[in-house]
Amino acid sequence: MTAPAPPRLSVGVLTADLTRLGAELEPLRRLSVWAHVDVMDGTFCPQLTVGPAVVRAIAATGAAVDAHLMVDEPRRMLPDIVSAGASVVTVHAESTRHLHRTLEELTGLAAAGPAAVLRGVAINPGTPVQAVEPVLELADLVLVLAVNPGWPGQQPAANTRRRVRAVRELAASAGVTVMVGIDGGVTMANAADMAGWGADVIVSGSAIYDGTDPAGNLSRMLERLERTAAPARVTPAPV
Ligand code: DX5
Ligand code: ZN
Repeated sequence: MTAPAPPRLSVGVLTADLTRLGAELEPLRRLSVWAHVDVMDGTFCPQLTVGPAVVRAIAATGAAVDAHLMVDEPRRMLPDIVSAGASVVTVHAESTRHLHRTLEELTGLAAAGPAAVLRGVAINPGTPVQAVEPVLELADLVLVLAVNPGWPGQQPAANTRRRVRAVRELAASAGVTVMVGIDGGVTMANAADMAGWGADVIVSGSAIYDGTDPAGNLSRMLERLERTAAPARVTPAPV
């Protein structure tokens, strides 16, 4: 029997040295690791970060951009994010009164573009997992936040493991195949453990870009993810 594939790693880039972002991204591009870009608007969550221009700049380096939109009413931003070249676009269930419509519009934009775009729906640690049930057919990824959005370097919430399992069960009972991801609080110390919770995608930011050795951190993190024999996963699409 072949070993299950390790989860795909998506690296949060906002704690990289932004003055030399091209060089900082090089190890990610070499290893086909996603570049996770936390887009925050200062209202959905407290920080104000970057938007489509930075997504475009990172995509232009050849890195696959995993755009995590922590913004109110993300529909308004979807055309710019998709045309900037994002490979994965994730919106929050809590961020809109029209989640289904938002995912429908994202689906339309993804289908119209020249390159594949994976559609994600995210939930904060305090949101019931059932919030994603109405849009399971419109999503390729359910991103379970292990931290409340806003800051890197937080501890993962204790409910994360059972929420990952609950999303899996929800998708299985709906007869839908969807990837499940975990975002936030993943460190060198807990990565192998968290990989064993059965996620298809693991997001880690400050453990990789910690101001020391991103390339070394990246290979250490990949080694930890590979170390874990995990339950069956959905094979991530090749973006
Ligand atoms: C939550 C963000 C995350 C997170 C990543 O605000 O969505 O992507 O900050 O950073 P670390 O890995 O440091 O928790
Ligand atoms: Zn994120």
